[in-house]
Amino acid sequence: MKKKFSVVVAGGGSTFTPGIVLMLLANLERFPLRSIKFYDNDGARQEIVAEACKVILKEQAPEIEFGYTTDPKTAFSDVDFVMAHIRVGKYPMREKDEKIPLRHGVVGQETCGPGGIAYGMRSIGGVLEIVDYMEKYSPDAWMLNYSNPAAIVAEATRRLRPRSRILNICDMPIGIEGRMAQIVGLKSRKEMQVRYYGLNHFGWWTSIEDMKGNDLMPKIREHVAKHGYVPPTDEPGVEASWNDTFAKAKDVWALDPSTFPNTYLKYYLFPDYVVAHSNPEHTRANEVMEHREKHVFSSCAAITKAGKSSAGELEIDEHASYIVDLATAIAFNTQERMLLIVPNQGAINNFDPEAMVEIPCLVGSNGPEPLTVGKIPLFQQGLMSQQVAVEKLVVEAWIEKSYLKLWQAITLSKTVPSASVAKAILDDLLEANKDYWPELK
Ligand code: NAD
Ligand code: G6P
Ligand code: MN
Repeated sequence: MKKKFSVVVAGGGSTFTPGIVLMLLANLERFPLRSIKFYDNDGARQEIVAEACKVILKEQAPEIEFGYTTDPKTAFSDVDFVMAHIRVGKYPMREKDEKIPLRHGVVGQETCGPGGIAYGMRSIGGVLEIVDYMEKYSPDAWMLNYSNPAAIVAEATRRLRPRSRILNICDMPIGIEGRMAQIVGLKSRKEMQVRYYGLNHFGWWTSIEDMKGNDLMPKIREHVAKHGYVPPTDEPGVEASWNDTFAKAKDVWALDPSTFPNTYLKYYLFPDYVVAHSNPEHTRANEVMEHREKHVFSSCAAITKAGKSSAGELEIDEHASYIVDLATAIAFNTQERMLLIVPNQGAINNFDPEAMVEIPCLVGSNGPEPLTVGKIPLFQQGLMSQQVAVEKLVVEAWIEKSYLKLWQAITLSKTVPSASVAKAILDDLLEANKDYWPELK
């Protein structure tokens, strides 16, 4: 009989938690579970999600033990995997991350530019705390981390917890690969073999083949040149702002037509366009609070009230199956090839060996084995060097409590026009983040 695993979801009150639970339930055959626990530091928020998940689990898999708690010892004892997706400061702070830079005419985004830097300064402590709970109560466990900004969080764990069993991942590349698969008429991105390199939310595909080794790049190129990553048949339910991002990939692609870009590069390469198309009074955080958060929490409340899952409309999070692929690869030593955020250590040979890069790895019981990328072109190398310096300066600013390094980090971001604008943004962010950032000297 296959071993059964115990999982704790950290950030149990996340809007993504119900989707992850449904996805875990859909994958029990390949990733069998004996226990699911939720942990969050906001008990009231978590309870709404957890009570609904309790109803779902009772219907679909009553044999799985279920519990939720704000107590670290209860949460992190006897677990094999920590699946983490916390948002320190929650949506009200995301809203500030987005709106403060926009007030200064600069990109306001969850993970990119000054907003992402502010979020990083909040996340580092929260994520380290979870790593430490895991190591204290379940020292053999693995932490699979979705918590953003993943680039900064990954650099912080590289610097401060180099031996910890934490793997940082992102669902953007697989989301884009799903669209590429649709473009070439394949059922799934798993029917493609890709090469990709970069930083998190900052990378490029250099090769896409089918399983017979046929090059799929020309057909994808023809489509992307006209429509970006908007697939031939529109997916229902894609929000307008995301659709714009997928369409804009056409312009981002034009800068290096021999590759395909991550959609997040638009914030660095077309910041003027992004600012001109932003509403400083109503940003993505507002959209998410008005749509996803409202929908998830009202569905959960309805399910709990009725005592049956059919009373709500919770959707399985297909993207999150990536996290099951990763857990399965570790649990059963599958050696699956996956994109992970790992120390470069020569994989990109003309790039900082101490940078955290997003590249293909083979994953087994002892973790990831990165594949070689080789030499990258000057355009990408230049952009990545600048961006990785930003990420490292943020982590150094957090460690040293240094105002100066944070000012340097914001100044160095390609989204920011000058040191004076950087300082003005920093001073506003500092005021807004008083309760979350270390006190800067
Ligand atoms: P959310 O605000 O709905 O949920 C986050 C939860 O984390 C909240 O319930 C909050 O109370 C909890 N939390 C905050 N600080 C905590 C701490 N120190 N300890 C324990 N719990 C804490 O947010 P969401 O939109 O559902 O997103 C969750 C996270 O997942 C975010 O970081 C988001 O950026 C990230 N995410 C990442 C990817 C990726 O590609 N890596 C994809 C999707 C979402
Ligand atoms: C993608 C990215 C995540 C990011 C999310 C934002 O999935 O990979 O890192 O957090 O988009 O989505 P949202 O709907 O919250 O704006
Ligand atoms: Mn991501």
